[in-house]
Amino acid sequence: MAPPDEFVVTPYEVRGRIDYQRLRELFGTQDLTPDLLARLHQISGGDLPPLLSRGVYYSHRDLGLLLDQFQKGSPFFLYSGRGPSGPLHTSHLVSFDICRWLQKTLGVRMFIQITDDEKFWARAGLSREETAYWGMENLYDILALGFDPKRTHVFFDSRSIAALYPLAIRVARKIPYSTVKAVFGFEPSTNIGLVFYTALQSVPCFWPSWAEGRSVPCLIPCGIDQDPHFRVTRDIAEGLGYPKPALLHSQMLPGLLGENAMSTTGDREDNALFLNDTHSTVERKVRGAFTGGRATVEEQRRLGATPEVCSVWALWRTRFAKDDREFQDVTRDCRSGALLCGECKSRVLERIHAFYAAHAEARIKVQGWAESTIITEAPKAL
Ligand code: TRP
Repeated sequence: MAPPDEFVVTPYEVRGRIDYQRLRELFGTQDLTPDLLARLHQISGGDLPPLLSRGVYYSHRDLGLLLDQFQKGSPFFLYSGRGPSGPLHTSHLVSFDICRWLQKTLGVRMFIQITDDEKFWARAGLSREETAYWGMENLYDILALGFDPKRTHVFFDSRSIAALYPLAIRVARKIPYSTVKAVFGFEPSTNIGLVFYTALQSVPCFWPSWAEGRSVPCLIPCGIDQDPHFRVTRDIAEGLGYPKPALLHSQMLPGLLGENAMSTTGDREDNALFLNDTHSTVERKVRGAFTGGRATVEEQRRLGATPEVCSVWALWRTRFAKDDREFQDVTRDCRSGALLCGECKSRVLERIHAFYAAHAEARIKVQGWAESTIITEAPKAL
């Protein structure tokens, strides 16, 4: 057990005020340096998206190596996933946003894993029908961000198991129980589904290499909480004859209720903006969101507010500021006291409503082709 002022970050629990540099050191990952960002900028040939230029992605494993290979003519594929325990909220889009951008600028393939099995095993209150239902709903939302139907492939675990299993068998044999127990903190009462599950989350990292009979590099953009799974994957990769996946890690975004209420523990309804929230619910949640403002208008005009602790500022930062210029203006006016919280919330709400409207339209179109992205068969030769 961690002391009360400590933080905990595992794939199954995120708690406390996270010191991200310390977490990076604890996990043994590398810093996403200005040099690497400059390389990404140069390779993509355009502006970096806000999640990169504003520091939400901050850590990696082997990104430099992956870019070397890319520049030598060996394209990687992207892999990320979602455990469907309920509706998606805007912070869940962080990994998929960056994947969409990388797919669009570099023309690379994307593999998405929907883990309806994992969430059934991990959450006692969820039925099989629910995780399968949310799996499809979440998939529509993810694809609606703008993925290319021809280059996007989905492992929907319970439906793709025939495609995953031949490789999962080999992966599972390489992972001792003592490793998963130490990495995930499993208890004697943990069900054996979860003990096996990490093998399934590793499989997509190797799947294209397996299917094509050659080494295909993999890049996984994900929340840093998912890193423990891929430490296991990286440890066994070479023994199986596959390349180690590279990773790009994001911070966990703060929830609407304040800094310690992490959005990934979004069980609390009002802590996040869910993509199926109505117009008036979004309005109510943003109006009630925790900010870095002062007790009175007079004080705020005089002393300014604190953007870094503000959940509304986090919305501007991660998605809703249209460019870095606007983001800097909002930040400066907040700090100086020129922009009050009520006005700031009205402005961001306009953007949020516009995003929801565009997203709803894109989502309807996606439903026509989502089914065709789901992989159900193992590669023929194997
Ligand atoms: N375990 C993840 C979750 O709980 C889902 C997931 C599967 C995933 N494969 C992934 C996340 C790859 C990031 C990258 O949501």
